[in-house]
Amino acid sequence: MKAVEFKNISKNFGNFPALTNVSFGIESNSVHCILGENGAGKSTLMKILFGMYQSDGGEFYIDGNSVKFDSPHDSIGMKIGMVHQHFMLIDDFTVLENVILGNETTTGLKINFTEIRSVLNDIINKYNLELDLDSKVSDISISSQQKVEILKLLFRDSGILIFDEPTAVLSPVEVKEFFKIIDEFKRNKKTIILITHKLNEVKLIADRVTVLRKGEVVYEEDIIDYNIDLEKLAQAIVGESRVSIAVDKSSENLTNETLIQLNSINLSRNNVKILDNLNLSLRKGEVLGICGVEGNGQNEIAEIITGLEKDFTGDFKNNNVNVSLVPDDRINKGMIMEYTVGENIYLKNGRKFIASSAILDDFSDKTINEYDVRLTNNKASLGSLSGGNQQKVIISREISAGNEVLIFSHPTRGVDINATAFIHSKIIEERNKNRAVLLISSDLDELVSLSDRLSVLFKGKIVKTFDPEELASYRSDNKISLTPDIEIKKEKDNQLFELLGKLMIGMAD
Ligand SMILES: Nc1ncnc2c1ncn2[C@@H]1O[C@H](COP(=O)(O)OP(=O)(O)OP(=O)(O)O)[C@@H](O)[C@H]1O
Ligand SMILES: [Mg+2]
Repeated sequence: MKAVEFKNISKNFGNFPALTNVSFGIESNSVHCILGENGAGKSTLMKILFGMYQSDGGEFYIDGNSVKFDSPHDSIGMKIGMVHQHFMLIDDFTVLENVILGNETTTGLKINFTEIRSVLNDIINKYNLELDLDSKVSDISISSQQKVEILKLLFRDSGILIFDEPTAVLSPVEVKEFFKIIDEFKRNKKTIILITHKLNEVKLIADRVTVLRKGEVVYEEDIIDYNIDLEKLAQAIVGESRVSIAVDKSSENLTNETLIQLNSINLSRNNVKILDNLNLSLRKGEVLGICGVEGNGQNEIAEIITGLEKDFTGDFKNNNVNVSLVPDDRINKGMIMEYTVGENIYLKNGRKFIASSAILDDFSDKTINEYDVRLTNNKASLGSLSGGNQQKVIISREISAGNEVLIFSHPTRGVDINATAFIHSKIIEERNKNRAVLLISSDLDELVSLSDRLSVLFKGKIVKTFDPEELASYRSDNKISLTPDIEIKKEKDNQLFELLGKLMIGMAD
């Protein structure tokens, strides 16, 4: 029985066809992965199913019945729930308040908190969500915030659960936990639709995959016994344009001069220790990787180095250099969503907003061509670009500033296979230009393949730093693989991954 059936769904934004005649079905009580390049139309299709957008053509069926949704209110009524690429929570509210908020079954009535609390605690226990209903959302980790979104859906008793890139913000340990929750959903007869760019995850969790490219279905496959050819899947995603970019790490003209030094840094917020006697140095001509579960002090390190955070004790030295930052949260920290690509690039570095449209076009053309940014037209607002394409714009802007120190925080989060390879090659290029690169990531593949030195951060402390020799001893070969996600890891790599996994959660010394 099909939980969802799309028939010839089309959607245009202006003249731009975001979806063309999309037809496929989603079996009930299964995990269905939707894959495709940045801008392929994945989020658009899911927003149509969730009633946020209306299609221009075609129809879809829920449990065999033709439906028409004017708003999410309608889809929620049919027990469909969606966790978006960017969470929709109110930071200043508690978990409980966020769950109750906007829940139509409770508005208008006198809310019975005791009853709701007990229902929610039952759900939390059943699915092992490990949430405290009274925590403020701003005080909990990203993975817990995701669990709040999940709790919202379960509270409404959703039977079809849509997740738009849920694992992009999770560390490997958290991904495992998340997949356990998904398994539990399946045992409870729910239907799960999951968008991801990580092919290894498909292998772990999917019953069936559908690949979209440029708004059309180009590939579908059932996965039985976790048996799927990832190389074939990768090819289906990128079509003819699979890039293979080779960049070697050069050792020429690299001076190793220290540009940034943090000594015995301590930082607390609301009486909670965030950085604990932290020492770190960043040198020219290296990529220093920072590995850790999100929320262990990564952001604060970036904020101290960029000068945003001043409320710390200890010694911070900047050897008179400028710092570029690709922030973790592009929507809130990086960009102005109402402005165009050109404006966003031009406005950086305190430029006053007086530029002819020719200059702006020049800025946007360069980025769009070099980074293969997909957008409907050059005057489109940044907010209308797909998630991965926004990320390409911000990376291009920060690299083009030409600063000596570059901080990349989760540079390829939400970015497709080709663009990931491209961004990785750009990071190595900067290192080879004798720039100092700090790479903060929760993607172990990315960290291990790009870093010259790799530090593990746990509870605001660096618990271990691998120097280049030690890293090399773990690598099965010393080649940088720019499409690491689809490679089968060799035994030596696995040892390193296991060790890193333990260090990240404080379970090794
Ligand atoms: N509200 C909008 N207005 C104009 N164009 C849009 C809008 N939403 C999406 N688009 C365009 O439609 C196309 C598909 O976008 P969509 O967000 O569905 O891609 P996606 O497959 O989810 O990509 P990603 O992996 O980067 O998230 C993109 O080219 C995007 O620029
Ligand atoms: Mg998307």
